[in-house]
Amino acid sequence: MTFKSVKSLSIYNTINFHVSLFAFDVYNPMQNMEGHMRLSVNVDHFATIREARRSDEPDPVLAALLAELAGAEGIVCHIRADRRHIKERDLFLFRQSLKTKLNIEMAATEEMKRIALDVKPDVVSLVPERDEELTTEGGLDVADNQEHLKDHIPALQKAGIKVSIFVDPDIDQITACRDVGANLIEINTAKYSDLKPGEERDEALVEVKRSAVHGRQLGLEVHAGHGLDYKNIGPIAEIPELTEFSIGFSIIARSAIVGIEKAVREMVELLK
Ligand code: PXP
Repeated sequence: MTFKSVKSLSIYNTINFHVSLFAFDVYNPMQNMEGHMRLSVNVDHFATIREARRSDEPDPVLAALLAELAGAEGIVCHIRADRRHIKERDLFLFRQSLKTKLNIEMAATEEMKRIALDVKPDVVSLVPERDEELTTEGGLDVADNQEHLKDHIPALQKAGIKVSIFVDPDIDQITACRDVGANLIEINTAKYSDLKPGEERDEALVEVKRSAVHGRQLGLEVHAGHGLDYKNIGPIAEIPELTEFSIGFSIIARSAIVGIEKAVREMVELLK
C-alpha cells in the first residue's frame, strides 16, 4: 500500500473533519512546552478490538487523534511481523494526520526497516519480538547484538528518524545502547509494574531510577514504559531524569468505560 492510495481512503477525510471540528476548542499548543513529563499513548489495542472481528472499527487513527486532543504528546504503535493489530495502512494514516509525534515500535529486521523508511515516523523504538508473546516481554538484549544494531540504526537516523531502544533497567545494557548509537532509551518498567506496593517494588523502582540517572549521564534522553497504570504511575513520575512515558493497555482499558479523551486527561493529570 502506498502513501498515495491511503490518502484517497474516505476515513482520511472523516478524521480530518473530526479534528478540525474540535481543534480550536481543545488543542492547546502550550501542552507541548518542555519542562514537564510527556505522555505518549500506545493505541495498539484499538486495533486489537478491530481485528477481533476483522472489521474497520474502532479506528486506531481516530482514537489517536482524540488522544492528542486530550493532551497526549505522542502516539505509539507496534507493527508486528504477524500484523496482529497495527497494519501498514494505520502507519501511513498516523503519519499524515497526527499533530504531535509518531513513535513506531518494531523489531530490528530488514522488513521493518523498509517500512520505517517509507513511513518516516519521528521515532522508531527497537523492541524484541517473539511470535507467541501476548506483549513485549523484556528489553532488547543490546549488549549481545551490538554489531547488528550498529549496522541497523544509521539508515534510520540518516532519514531523520530518532532511534529509541526498549531496554531493561540494567546499567550494562544501557551503556550498550549508547555504544550502538541510540538517540534515546525507554526503560522497561514491567518488573516494577507487576509488583504490588512493598519492599520488592521499592527495589524495582530504585533500579529504574538508577538506570534513568545512568542514561542521562551518557547523554541519552530517557523514557519509560510497560505496565504503567493509574495506580502505579506516581512513584515513577517522580523520577526527574524521565521525560516521557509510553502507556497503552491501562489507558485503552479505561477508555472502554469512560472514553479515550477522559482516560487520557486523567493520566495527563497524574503526570503534572
Ligand atoms: N513500551 C513498549 C516498548 C511496549 O512494547 C509496550 C506495549 O506495547 C508499552 C511500552 C506499553 O505497555 P502497556 O500497554 O503495558 O502500557
